[in-house]
Amino acid sequence: MVDPIKETTDFGFRKVAKDEKANLVAAVFHSVAAKYDLMNDLMSLGIHRIWKRFTIEASGARRGQTILDLAGGTGDLTAKFAKIVGEKGEVVLADINDSMLKMGREKLRDRGIIGNVNYVQANAEELPFPDNYFDCISISFGLRNVTDKDKALKSMFRVLKLGGRLLVLEFSKPILPVLTKAYDAYSFHILPRVGQMIVNDADSYRYLAESIRMHPDQDTLKTMMELVGFEQVSYTNMTGGIVALHRGFKF
Ligand SMILES: C[S@@+](CC[C@H](N)C(=O)[O-])C[C@H]1O[C@@H](n2cnc3c(N)ncnc32)[C@H](O)[C@@H]1O
Repeated sequence: MVDPIKETTDFGFRKVAKDEKANLVAAVFHSVAAKYDLMNDLMSLGIHRIWKRFTIEASGARRGQTILDLAGGTGDLTAKFAKIVGEKGEVVLADINDSMLKMGREKLRDRGIIGNVNYVQANAEELPFPDNYFDCISISFGLRNVTDKDKALKSMFRVLKLGGRLLVLEFSKPILPVLTKAYDAYSFHILPRVGQMIVNDADSYRYLAESIRMHPDQDTLKTMMELVGFEQVSYTNMTGGIVALHRGFKF
C-alpha cells in the first residue's frame, strides 16, 4: 500500500511512492537487459532503427563534438555518434542501470568502438557533468522512465552548451484513432506475451505499454521543455505519432 503522507508518482498505471519508482524501473531493466536488443527488434519489427537514424540526422552532430547519449542503455545511438564525432570528439553513454551499461559497453567493444566513448552510471535528474559541457544531448526512450522529468530536463539544460541541442526520442500519442485501437490491442495483449516468451517476464512489458500511455503527449512535452528554458522547441511525429522526436536549443 502507498503511504498517504509520501508524494506519489506513476509506475505504469500504478501509483507508487516517488522514492520507490527508481527501484521499480531498475528491476525492469535488470530483467530485460540481456535480451533488450532482440526484444527491440521483435517488438518494433526493426522500425526502432529508422526512428534512431532519423534522430541522428536531426542531431546535426559533427566531427570533434562532445555528445551525451543519456539513458543510452545498450548504446545504439552512442555507436552512431561515435563514428560521426571521430577520434577528436567524445561520446558519453550515461545510464542509471549497470546491467544496461554493461550490455552497451560489451556491444560497442565487440564492434571496435572504443577510443572516444566513456561510460558513466548516472541519474538523469542529477547529471554529474560541468555546466555547458555538451554540444548535443540525446535521450532515447529514456525520459518516460525518469521519476522527476522536469528535474531531468533542467539538469540536461544545465550541462548543454550555449547553442547546443537536446533531442528527446520517445513514445508518444498516436494521431490517428484507427491506429490507437490496433496499437492498444498490440501493446496490452501481444507485447506482454512476447515478453513472457523471450525474457520470461510479462510484467516488464506490461509496464512498457502502461508507461507509454502515462507519458506526456507531444504538446505537453514541448511545453515542459520550454518551461525549463529550451528554445525553438519543435517535434516530428513518426509512425503516426507512436513515436515523436522533440528538439530544443539552449541559447
Ligand atoms: C528503453 S531503454 C532505452 C535505451 C536506449 N536509449 C535505446 O533507445 O535503445 C531506457 C533506459 O533508460 C534508463 N533509465 C531509466 N531511468 C533513468 C534515469 N533516471 N537516469 C538515467 N537513465 C535512466 C534505463 O536504465 C534504460 O537503460
